[in-house]
Amino acid sequence: MLNFEFKNPTKIIFGKGEIHKLAKEIPQNAKLLVLFGGGSIMKNGIYDQVKNALVGIDWIEFGGIAANPEYAVLMDALQIIKEKKIDYLLAVGGGSVIDGTKFLAFAAKYKGNDPWEILKKSIRAYEDDTLPFATVLTLPATGSEMNSGYVISRKETKEKLSCGGPGLFPQFSILDPEVIRSIPKKQIANGIADAYSHVLEQYMTFPTSATLQERMMESIMLTLQEIAPKVMQNEFEYEAAANFMWCCTMALNGLVSKGVPTDWAVHSIGHELTALFGIDHARTLAIIAPSHYRYNNANKIGKLCQYAERIWNISLENNNDKAELGIQKMETFFHSIGIPTRLSDYTEEYLGTAEKIQQVFTERKWMLGERKNIGPNEVLEIVKMSY
Ligand code: NZQ
Ligand code: ZN
Repeated sequence: MLNFEFKNPTKIIFGKGEIHKLAKEIPQNAKLLVLFGGGSIMKNGIYDQVKNALVGIDWIEFGGIAANPEYAVLMDALQIIKEKKIDYLLAVGGGSVIDGTKFLAFAAKYKGNDPWEILKKSIRAYEDDTLPFATVLTLPATGSEMNSGYVISRKETKEKLSCGGPGLFPQFSILDPEVIRSIPKKQIANGIADAYSHVLEQYMTFPTSATLQERMMESIMLTLQEIAPKVMQNEFEYEAAANFMWCCTMALNGLVSKGVPTDWAVHSIGHELTALFGIDHARTLAIIAPSHYRYNNANKIGKLCQYAERIWNISLENNNDKAELGIQKMETFFHSIGIPTRLSDYTEEYLGTAEKIQQVFTERKWMLGERKNIGPNEVLEIVKMSY
């Protein structure tokens, strides 16, 4: 097992009807900005629950942080934070609203002239660099409610960049599985695929001696597979929703990756597909993951076989056959929740994509993967295989 340090200070308040606890958790003297997305919280009752819980607190709101939070929109929010001397932020939303809020928590105290530098130069945020913030999660998927990373998009430059730092853990997050009732099936599928891919990024490297972490990751994948049909059906099942929500948080709150190598190439490449075509984040992962694992079969064969055996009960003699069948099962799982796994399923303009991403990664001098041996030329091949 690799050496590690682990600190996750986010308090989780989990369960049915827990949004009212906001009242206890937000400091009474806070000057609060509540941030949300395109308005789903107005229709499903979450806004009213938040409003009722905030009685007695001095708060204003900023709505309109759409999926793949846009830098220009966040700059409008930043102006309000500065003008109104806001000192606490509350994100009510999915990964996009939470990520946008994290960026703002740092940008509000950033001393440089242009906050975009934070992302361009990957400037990490430490505890004293940020405003405190909390979240009410409305969409299980990213794990952003209990981690310190965020991803921001900029349409103008077709960029989607990630950053983070220990100063960007939420103070607390409220996870009420009831919020899943109003989520469109497409977004539920995205949540399942994103969380599943988060585990894969931390798991599909090479076999390690970190038995507990490997077993925890396998448990998350098996649980997601088990609950997927239940959360995708029309009838709402609270227990399935609760397990789904907790899987998403556990997949990316930092715990399972401690002491093990991690990959994250699929996310790095996937973000470019969102930047180029606007494809939903989770779907970009389902497009890239199978090709990435096939292309890197030699490096990942041990783990691919472990995945095939332990997750799909595949017991073929030949390791290459076993690994390939495991990847096919992974694709079938994505298809079973309505997520296509080819770039050409999403856009007719896919030709040339591999070259564009190769060019961007050459400029950024990125080397990806657990062995840092996936450069622009390898990325070119992986993306071509995903057409
Ligand atoms: O904007 P509203 O109207 O709220 O609608 C949202 C949005 O259209 C809707 N929605 C959310 N909760 C709902 C709901 N609709 C009905 N009922 C509810 N209860 O769902 C749509 C998608 O929301 P979004 O927040 O964009 O989804 P998600 O949570 O998947 O977040 C995606 C973003 O997170 C980033 C992605 O790159 C992407 O930008 N990621 C963040 C990570 C992190 N911070 O650790 C890791 C991830 O790998 C990912 O990169
Ligand atoms: Zn993700």
